[in-house]
Amino acid sequence: MKKIIICSWAIIVILSLAIVKLTCMETTVDYGAPKGALEVIAARRSVRKYLEKPVENEKVLAMLRAGMAAPSGKDLRPWEFVMVTESVVLQAMAAGLPYAKMLAGAPLAIVVCGDTARSAYWYLDCSAAAQNVLLAAEAQGLGAVWTAAYPYDDRVAVVREALHLPENVVPLCVIPVGYPATNAAPKDKFNFAKVHHERY
Ligand SMILES: Cc1cc2nc3c(=O)[nH]c(=O)nc-3n(C[C@H](O)[C@H](O)[C@H](O)COP(=O)(O)O)c2cc1C
Repeated sequence: MKKIIICSWAIIVILSLAIVKLTCMETTVDYGAPKGALEVIAARRSVRKYLEKPVENEKVLAMLRAGMAAPSGKDLRPWEFVMVTESVVLQAMAAGLPYAKMLAGAPLAIVVCGDTARSAYWYLDCSAAAQNVLLAAEAQGLGAVWTAAYPYDDRVAVVREALHLPENVVPLCVIPVGYPATNAAPKDKFNFAKVHHERY
């Protein structure tokens, strides 16, 4: 009898430890060998053609984590992200957005939105988040491009309707993401003339 009780307790302890470990695994992500941040920044460029290949969930999660790691005024984090993989929704946005036709051939789009009820300057915070999403895409061998919704009322309306956004949530940009079908070299945009020493 004593043996059975000890065994039962041992099983309970082992199961509890396993549950704690599983819970921790959900909140920590192994991104693999880190690529240099400067390398990723220099390599990023807009990609508008994608292979017919889905983007793995872990990679999507890493992009969303990167987005939410962005700085924000007063740490208000006024962002909302809509992940779109349904073809009918991607097609609807492609049809309505004049400069986002590549959405029709993308396996995924991440729409970065801001909650106007949480911050008056949500678009600044959300721009930082969007850039982080683009960099996380690049870091994972994916290609992406920022396509504008805000501040164009007509484009905002297209995205709002396609995604059923509530009134206080405004789409800043739609970011199609996929494995690049093109291999364009990054641009070197560094320009010393834009740098002013001590005073303008
Ligand atoms: C605010 C903003 C709006 C943009 N809107 C669009 C867009 O609607 N469609 C598009 O194809 N690219 C868009 N782009 C991507 C730019 O065209 C691209 O970043 C620029 O040509 C520089 O190229 P690179 O990203 O390869 O360095 C946008 C970028 C930003 C930052």
